[in-house]
Amino acid sequence: MKKSRIFSGARPTGRQHIGNYLGALQNWVKLQDEYDCIYCIVDIHALTSLEDTGNLQKNIREMILDWLAVGLDPKKSILFVQSHVPEVMELHTLLSMITPLSWLLRVPTFKDKIKLQPENVNYGLVGYPVLMTSDIVLYKATVVPVGEDQLPHLELAREITRRFNGLFGYTFPEPNGKLTNYPLIIGLDGKDKMSKQAGNDIELAMTEEETIKKIKTAYTDPARRYRSDPGHPDKCNVYKLMGYFESTGGNGIAEKCRKAEIGCVDCKMILAEVINKALRPIRQRRDELATDPRYIDEVLADGADRARVIARKTLTEVKKNMRLI
Ligand code: TRP
Repeated sequence: MKKSRIFSGARPTGRQHIGNYLGALQNWVKLQDEYDCIYCIVDIHALTSLEDTGNLQKNIREMILDWLAVGLDPKKSILFVQSHVPEVMELHTLLSMITPLSWLLRVPTFKDKIKLQPENVNYGLVGYPVLMTSDIVLYKATVVPVGEDQLPHLELAREITRRFNGLFGYTFPEPNGKLTNYPLIIGLDGKDKMSKQAGNDIELAMTEEETIKKIKTAYTDPARRYRSDPGHPDKCNVYKLMGYFESTGGNGIAEKCRKAEIGCVDCKMILAEVINKALRPIRQRRDELATDPRYIDEVLADGADRARVIARKTLTEVKKNMRLI
């Protein structure tokens, strides 16, 4: 039986952190065996919020290094950079003609962006979900693994698809969002979602020493002020982070914390070791891959070639159905 096709994408934010890993990448790796997967670094999407593109190429390379290191496999999946298959921009223009502006102005992420970058509310930003729809339907993907924040975009993708099929005849299957069953990963500050911008992240590519140093800055149980105070592991983000990498059920740390037999500094050192141990093979592989920049070029060129074959076929069909040819 033919496997269903998955498409997912991420903006080129550079080095990935453990929030990206636990929330998306780990899941993407698993899906490779069950589905026909296409994973894309969406550089054009990044331009909607980027005025300085000086680091764009560097960020793309850092990101693909991390993707490969965690186990995304160019033999199993198509890995490519969005702009290397320019057909997506053509489809974006065509789909923009059938997308009511009112649908786009309602999108919550658009409203957020207006507040976040009032000095740069560009035309491309309004069309962000149309470009995302183009990504997905150009490859006729039916399953789209995303975080919760992306669900409104997927709803819109389905509406655009339906409208296109209604106007020009059945062309695209309707895509469905697939929620990653991982909870929100809170950063080392213990309050905000882990992100590079917030500076509360642990990068996959950090050295073991850097990891230890960064984890030393982590916030623990806010109610525990002195070493002798009993702690509350259920309210401690360091304890929580540990649980993502190792089963904490049997290690007795929670008990010792509650009885003040173990201090927060001890706990942070344990977390650092747990994370370093889990990331050791990934980091080793990343270091190996980084020694051969030509390999990265080859992976991306091959990914774009394979994606483009599918893209061209869909675009011809779209143009025929729209009577452009
Ligand atoms: N908008 C997504 C994000 O910010 C990235 C993205 C672009 C995407 N195109 C996509 C995700 C297509 C899934 C499918 O995370």
